[in-house]
Amino acid sequence: METKKMALSCEQLYEIWSSEPELLVVLDSREKELFNKGHIPGATHITTNEVKNTLLKIGEKLAVIICNDNDKEKLLTELSPFNNFMFLHECKRWDILQLPIVEKSIDDINKNLINKGHKMNSNSIFFQLFEPESSTYTYIIGDSKTKEAAIIDPVMETLDRDIKFIKELDLKLLYVLDTHVHADHITAAGEMRKQTGAKTAVSLHSKVECVDLLLEDGQELKLGDKTIKAITTPGHTNSCMSFYFEGKVFTGDTLLIRGSGRTDFQQGSSENLYHSVHNKLYLLPDETVVYPAHDYRGFTSSTIALEKKFNPRLGVGKSIDDFTKIMNELKLPYPKKIDVSLPANLKCGFMKESRVLHPQNVDGIPEVTNEDVYKNKTQIRLIDVRRPDEFNGEYGHIEGAELVTLGEELTNWLSKNDKNQEIAFICRSGGRSGNATLESLKLGFTKTVNMTGGMIMWNEKKLPTIR
Ligand SMILES: [Fe+2]
Repeated sequence: METKKMALSCEQLYEIWSSEPELLVVLDSREKELFNKGHIPGATHITTNEVKNTLLKIGEKLAVIICNDNDKEKLLTELSPFNNFMFLHECKRWDILQLPIVEKSIDDINKNLINKGHKMNSNSIFFQLFEPESSTYTYIIGDSKTKEAAIIDPVMETLDRDIKFIKELDLKLLYVLDTHVHADHITAAGEMRKQTGAKTAVSLHSKVECVDLLLEDGQELKLGDKTIKAITTPGHTNSCMSFYFEGKVFTGDTLLIRGSGRTDFQQGSSENLYHSVHNKLYLLPDETVVYPAHDYRGFTSSTIALEKKFNPRLGVGKSIDDFTKIMNELKLPYPKKIDVSLPANLKCGFMKESRVLHPQNVDGIPEVTNEDVYKNKTQIRLIDVRRPDEFNGEYGHIEGAELVTLGEELTNWLSKNDKNQEIAFICRSGGRSGNATLESLKLGFTKTVNMTGGMIMWNEKKLPTIR
């Protein structure tokens, strides 16, 4: 690896620092005074003479060295046998990017993090994933020895991506955790359980009946020799829960980066949220990395110390009255997806529990077999999208099917019909009905499927046909 000739930009460093901090060791050898004025969270201050020895100790990790220009030449010569380091240039840009910078007053919290055996380096698995429509972060955490893992706040839209990723990593998914009953997206918890055998878990106060585990405050879940600790943090909703794991805390919508979740729905309470943050989350070690359920400005993580210092709503010094006043004055719009999300999430997002067919996703289209349609045809709506002459022609049609030809007629029909009904689209071989399914999904239908192979396959299987 020719890393020694390369230099990282601040953006590149930030990318790795925020998503896979366990891969990095940031060594800052500038004058102590400069370091104290501001440095990258987690950086260790060392002298140039100590750099070589440190490189010997960091194993597989990559060291990012921040130093004065006149020390660089010397270091380059001295470090020539090593290839596990890079220099960081233009560190001033860290400021310009408005990324978190640690100031002198909390310097002590962060110094020597690595030397103290910071938990980020403890063979744990950590990935932060993003769902852009609802700006939701999903997290995969685990133990790299046993490969036991948990996923936090998975979203229905990114279910397939996340399942594939878990398989690629060869993880044993033990738990699917929701930080709360979400109002802005549908949880993939139920589907994840179905596909992986993992247990679903949510707060005891959530009134979700379909989950495997109703978590209490302080309850612990094991991943190998590591522990996830559930911490009840009500306020955004009455059932909010944060999860602490290996030096990180997943705060859901309770504590956001420089913000907080709203408190005006789902038994929300500004007073409770303030107490949850100040009396629970702020008691965690200051260097604990904060990973929220959402961010709308491009931040990916923070620390307890940084939120105490910079959170404009919940920073130290803001009183409960200040916070309540801020929250009361927000006047936020009605949550866009609450009417769909809440009922679905109270069923573990398992809209499929209320559906009778068993679709498989094929290239983005939910497909069902002829047999599935045959068995359940009286409980769903069958929409045949062929022309009238085909409907009554060679291959006939299925009993109970309604003829709505693809094109203007179908578009019109879709605009007038209930988006939550379960519909199987049918055509001659499956092509046109696939397009009909896609069109319906784009219009917001939630339970529409394509019958694979169309009437040709239906006839081949000698299923009953009307001509
Ligand atoms: Fe929420």
